[in-house]
Order: sequence, then C-alpha cells, then structure tokens
Amino acid sequence: MVKVAIFASGTGSNFEFIADNQALKDAGLEIEVLVCDRPKAAVIKKAQRRGIPTFIIQPKDFENRSHYEQVIVTELARYQIDTILLAGYMRVITSTLLSEYPMEIINIHPALLPLFPGIHGIEDAYKAGVSVTGVTIHYIDEGVDTGPIIAQQSIPILPDETLEQLESKIHDVEHQLYPKVILNLLNNEKGD
Ligand code: GRF
Repeated sequence: MVKVAIFASGTGSNFEFIADNQALKDAGLEIEVLVCDRPKAAVIKKAQRRGIPTFIIQPKDFENRSHYEQVIVTELARYQIDTILLAGYMRVITSTLLSEYPMEIINIHPALLPLFPGIHGIEDAYKAGVSVTGVTIHYIDEGVDTGPIIAQQSIPILPDETLEQLESKIHDVEHQLYPKVILNLLNNEKGD
C-alpha cells in the first residue's frame, strides 16, 4: 500500500483520472488527502464526491512560505503520506516540503521539459511555433520544472491546429500518461 497526497489548485481532471484508475487501486495506491490552495477550486468537489478528505490551505494566511509548508507537512504526517503527486498545483515547492519528501514529489507538466517550463507551457510552445510539444512527468527539485524526468510523451502540433485543440490533445495524453507512470513506479517499488 502506498499512501499519497495529491496537491491541486484548479479543475482537477488529472486528479480524477488518478482517483478513478482501477489498476492503481489494485496496485495499492491510496489517495489519503487532497491538498488545495484555492478554496473555490473545482477539484475540491471532485475529492468530496469520492470521499477523499480535503485539506484547504492558503499561503496568504501565513507569515511566510516555510510556515505554510510546515503546516502541510504536519497534516501529511497525520496520514503517513509516502508520496506527493502534484496535479495542477500552481505553486513552487520549497525546501520545507522537499526536505521531508526528497525524490517523493512528482509533477506533471504540459510540455517537453526542459522546453517551456512555467505556468503557460502549452501556450508558450504553441506561440513559439514548434512542431512538437508534449507532456513530462518528473520529480520535483528546488527549481521551476527542473527536476529529474521520469517519462515524456511527445505530441505533434499540426499546422492548422488552434490553441484550444492543442490543449485538449495534451490533456488527453496527460490523463493516460500520469496514471500509467504512477503504476510503473508502484510496480518497480514492489520489485525492489
Ligand atoms: C495540467 O495541464 C498539468 O499538466 C498542469 O496543470 C494542469 C492541471 O489540469 N500542471 P487539471 O486541474 O488536472 O485539469
């Protein structure tokens, strides 16, 4: 059994695809808590509907980032969390969380890192006029989208494609790739 916390700030479509994946459940993945920094985020209802506890916490309520993350660390300890999955969590993770979960925080990014890091990965690739972009799953380190890459999938950008079409294509790949990569990691750990 692997106890995970998912961190998300927005819609939560990746959250849903992980939470509803039967192969992940069969492999022992347990989503213990959703950590969310936006009280109105749609992902909160998605967790509630599935009976997953939510921990809503906002940096503005703390004097600094370290204190904010320290409170999250304390909450995660209650659930004995092994691994953190970021799924559209729109904040940089700092050393307070990283030192507690070294190489145990995983992120999904909608571009082929190291190309197009940051919060507008899809749009930046589209505007740059590249013919291929993609999705990256990687470990978190102290930089912005710089940690060791676990898996990538490339996606062509067609000449007449709109940004919206590209976004939808990328999200479709994300929804398949993130659960698949988590499953591989779980199975590899079992083999160790
Ligand atoms: C995804 O595109 C993910 O790659 C990025 O944020 C987006 C989250 O979407 N980090 P959702 O909230 O999972 O629908």
